[in-house]
Amino acid sequence: MGAMVGVALLGASVTNAFAADETLRSLAEERGRYIGAILNSEWFGGRIESQFEQIHKAQFNAVVAENEMKFDATEPSEGRFSYGNGDKMVKYAQQNGMRVRGHALAWHSQVPNWVNNYKGQKDKLFKVLKNHIENVVSHWKGQIAEWDVVNEAINDNNNHGWRSSGSVWFETLGADFLDSAFVWAHAADPDAELCYNDYAIEWGLGSGSKAGFVLEQVKRWKKNGIPITCVGTQTHIEISHETTPKNVRDFAKALAELGITLNITELDIGFPKGSANSLSAKDYQKQGHLYRQFMDVFLEEPNMGEFMIWGVTDAHSWLDGSQGKTQGLIYDKQYKPKPAYDSLIVSLKAHAPSEVVSPYSSNTPESSSSTDVSSSSSTITIKASMAPASLSMQVSGHTLLIAGTQSAMVDVFDMQGRPVFSAKCETGSIELKNVSEGLYVVRVRKGSASLTKRIAIK
Ligand code: G3I
Repeated sequence: MGAMVGVALLGASVTNAFAADETLRSLAEERGRYIGAILNSEWFGGRIESQFEQIHKAQFNAVVAENEMKFDATEPSEGRFSYGNGDKMVKYAQQNGMRVRGHALAWHSQVPNWVNNYKGQKDKLFKVLKNHIENVVSHWKGQIAEWDVVNEAINDNNNHGWRSSGSVWFETLGADFLDSAFVWAHAADPDAELCYNDYAIEWGLGSGSKAGFVLEQVKRWKKNGIPITCVGTQTHIEISHETTPKNVRDFAKALAELGITLNITELDIGFPKGSANSLSAKDYQKQGHLYRQFMDVFLEEPNMGEFMIWGVTDAHSWLDGSQGKTQGLIYDKQYKPKPAYDSLIVSLKAHAPSEVVSPYSSNTPESSSSTDVSSSSSTITIKASMAPASLSMQVSGHTLLIAGTQSAMVDVFDMQGRPVFSAKCETGSIELKNVSEGLYVVRVRKGSASLTKRIAIK
């Protein structure tokens, strides 16, 4: 493995050094995790090279629309909903066994003018946002595993607070719209994971930090029973941002204390704009090394579930449009894998499936029915994974009932990934002795079959 790591980091493509069928997707699925990329607007418009989709469905088991599920795309005029592009993506995802992220319900940007025209009309705008969320989330109920319910609602000031200007939602509704958006989304699809998503929250939890402000809001939402389940760190960073992987790990650990998942939702690692023609193999190795560090953190933190890249190829990236960055993705403009691709593969292979805990079941993504662990009943039925042994499990109080096999290894981890219980089950059920009330991740293994799920012990 050392030799392989060395070669990957040296920038030489080692893709051919891996088994032919090994992909980001196959390695992610073995570990109960999701690695995905956007379907960009060129794909929706049917104006993209065929390699894009070939690579996308071979390498990724999760997908999100770059623009086509935003407010302006799904409700372009009042009460007139447009689901065609979103339906196209959901169908593609179901045909290719991918988990779907919905992006984004309440955001200050890409809001159609008819909404902005209601600025100042509080009652009307509350109805507009509620109606939008109820219609859009209901339309894809059970098909979208996770929503960015609120996107980028925090300002970029030194001492962070809510984005109080340039947001029709905040300017008219105040901060109440955030709590309400989560409640409305949960009512429309109780099984969907619900995220707060933002950028520049990869800079540590220090006093006055944006991530620190997010953490305080999540604590308040959890205390008030707001049904948030995840935070999305967009992670649009630059090659010089070398401290960000550790900051993301620290953030994941802080959120794990709250039972909240942290997902990387829009990763790209850009070089300075205009530098494309002067970049060396050493530059791309450095990019690969930073990508690898994010993957290491992702695989090692038990409450991280999705690793989403904001594009496939440098030939199609938002970075070259409006941003001061370039060449931030894992395939080059000719759809060749860059060292960043190889480094991700190496990181995945360096973390055995038995070492990686997942906050989601190992169900195939389209089932997307992640059980709401906060449900009141103490009996939680966990859907069978697609593992060959069609394992399934059910928790009732402290009793774990396992179907699909009489005997299996049972391991229980707290949300910080610390083992709290491990035993062999011989009779199809086992008492989770001395496991106190709270949120845990239980993993049931039988041969090569494995089912992992977040559970609540009440
Ligand atoms: O669809 C119109 C097209 O009809 C028109 O001809 C063309 C030229 O004006 O514009 C097209 O709309 C563009 C849209 O992307 C679809 O391509 C918008 O102008 C353009 O502003 C929009 O940019 C998107 C940007 O969000 C908008 O804020 C980027 O593609 C998209 O990558 C980017 O994604 C965001 C996430 O949603 C949130 N996090 C940050 C991330 C990067 O900004």
